[in-house]
Amino acid sequence: FQHGALSGKRVFITAGPTREPLDPVRFISNHSSGKMGYALAEAAADAGADVRLISGPVNLPSPPRVECVQVESAEQMLAASLDGVEQCDIFIAAAAVADYRPVAVAEHKIKKGSEEIMELRLIKNPDIVATVAGLERQRPFTVGFAAETRDVLEYARSKLERKGLDLIIANDVSNPDIGFNSDDNAVTLVSTATTLTLPLGPKRLLARQLIDQIAEHFHRKSQR
Ligand code: C5P
Repeated sequence: FQHGALSGKRVFITAGPTREPLDPVRFISNHSSGKMGYALAEAAADAGADVRLISGPVNLPSPPRVECVQVESAEQMLAASLDGVEQCDIFIAAAAVADYRPVAVAEHKIKKGSEEIMELRLIKNPDIVATVAGLERQRPFTVGFAAETRDVLEYARSKLERKGLDLIIANDVSNPDIGFNSDDNAVTLVSTATTLTLPLGPKRLLARQLIDQIAEHFHRKSQR
């Protein structure tokens, strides 16, 4: 692990789930623990980067020497991600952003009615990492994640292309030993020209290897 590999670089990392409110007391969310994003933030800070962690609600302590911005919804996460992005060198999207949010947020608590079936209308959330990767001026080196249950590499490659990313970190979430909530993970790093598999290991070790790889790809691209 290379100390100083990211010295002087500004890194933004999104982490955790988002919460999409339905009314003042309810929301739609997911089981993301935020562990991978927090581990990446710590590893990036250890590599000398100036790190801003943009996090949905999680039960993790803020990593030392990392600026934390707490958000709830995908729209808040997008706004926090774009705020100051002109100064950002590397953007890493590790958050599990809700794909959809309720069309309307009720002002008051929704009351139980007599009907047996209740329908919710949802609208697509903005794609944060694709928005950042699509910036025309001052676009940071952009890294995304792809959690898949089958055809992991094919889906990862198509996501890399579709979202316009520099790198994508693919993980197979069909294996319960890795991914969501687990302390371990195994991933494959995919760029347009390369693939590299990092075997099963603790997320904190993996985060260090990922930050090394991201730094290398970033520096290689900046030299071109
Ligand atoms: O398309 P999918 O959700 O599988 O893509 C995952 C990647 O895209 C992750 O890096 C995730 O953080 C990012 N993403 C995002 N905004 C969304 C959905 C996903 O930044 N609305």
